[in-house]
Amino acid sequence: MKNFSLRVSVLFGLMLLLSFNFSQAAGRIQACNPSGTITGITPPPGKCNQEHDSDCCKKGQKYKTYTCSPSISSQTRATLTINSFEKNGDGGGPSECDGHYHSDSTPIVALSTGWYNGGSRCFNNITIRYKGRSVRAMVVDECDSTMGCDDDHDYQPPCPNNIVDGSKAVWAALGISDPDDVGSLDITWSQD
Ligand SMILES: *[C@@H]1O[C@H](CO)[C@@H](O)[C@H](O)[C@H]1NC(C)=O
Repeated sequence: MKNFSLRVSVLFGLMLLLSFNFSQAAGRIQACNPSGTITGITPPPGKCNQEHDSDCCKKGQKYKTYTCSPSISSQTRATLTINSFEKNGDGGGPSECDGHYHSDSTPIVALSTGWYNGGSRCFNNITIRYKGRSVRAMVVDECDSTMGCDDDHDYQPPCPNNIVDGSKAVWAALGISDPDDVGSLDITWSQD
């Protein structure tokens, strides 16, 4: 009897240890898997503004979509890209947060769908850091990771899930006056 209960408690302990390890591993991985794919079409003539060397959808090409983004920390790694938030710029329609266009001379950003989180960060400021420099920028828009290759998204592919898409004022504050030549930067960001 004694032997039996010892074995049961050893087994129970082992199971606890295992499930603890599994949940820890799951926490570390924080998998953000694609939610689907979009098949590109050829943009109609005159569509897909190639300002800032924007990508245009290609007919038949498959693009992954995401509803999630990597988890947020005090040093969230992201890719900074350049966007125009002005009318007739390469940003497509007006900003998601307020339905308005914004001046590219103000430090503003769009976040990938998962980080945009249904607008919960609208008008909040984030701090973007790059090589010892930093800039505070206001969230005004979504970089849509779930849709693309249509008129509302300027016939551009869906956004990757780790994008901070900044105005030229953001880039200027980080010391880069020619974002088109640079294309993208590995930055970190945090919420104010
Ligand atoms: C973000 O920064 C701008 C400019 O400094 C400020 O007007 C705005 O109130 C800030 N937003 C929040 C939510 O604090």
